[in-house]
Amino acid sequence: MQKVITADNSETFFNEKVQESYHSHKGAVEEALRKYVIPCKIKELAQTGKLKILDVCFGLGYNSAMAIDAALEENPRCEIEVVGLEYDPFIIQKIQDVSPLIKFYKQYKRLTPKTLQFKEGNVSIKILLGDGREMVKQLPADYFDAVFFDPFSPKTSLEMWQISFFKKNSNTLNVFLRQNGSR
Ligand SMILES: C[S@@+](CC[C@H](N)C(=O)[O-])C[C@H]1O[C@@H](n2cnc3c(N)ncnc32)[C@H](O)[C@@H]1O
Repeated sequence: MQKVITADNSETFFNEKVQESYHSHKGAVEEALRKYVIPCKIKELAQTGKLKILDVCFGLGYNSAMAIDAALEENPRCEIEVVGLEYDPFIIQKIQDVSPLIKFYKQYKRLTPKTLQFKEGNVSIKILLGDGREMVKQLPADYFDAVFFDPFSPKTSLEMWQISFFKKNSNTLNVFLRQNGSR
């Protein structure tokens, strides 16, 4: 897979099969911050002392790693749980080949297709390897505080952009957040 350096100097890869990059060329880390961490009000959620994130289409894990940085900056004692859904072990392996400017990403290097999980202090990460549309059925309802949804585009991965899949992901969200958008 070819490495691509994006506009904020962070690295991503180009997937030949789908003919798309894993991140925006405008900035991979920037994208994690602007499209996921800020809209989800991660800092506000971290103030509650507990944060559970479902990272759908985990890939290299930039979105949740960036969220962990923001949450720990706001509240170093926040208990954080990340569950990632990813079907391609090869992209998990590629975590070893990138070094984004995300503090917690050093820990993400512990994720390999064999380990798939770790706990470091008050932060735990677990990747469920398989088709996200099936794996999501194993997850509890009303559980997560944020769901990051990051498939390839509908042009190449229309199967991921179905209302039924949105509904299943949305069902895993904490019911209060589902109804009100934030606490
Ligand atoms: C746009 S990339 C996500 C980038 C990722 N969020 C990151 O920070 O690196 C889309 C990801 O969706 C994964 N994917 C595609 N189909 C999937 C499926 N059915 N279930 C789970 N993951 C899938 C791909 O392997 C790829 O890693």
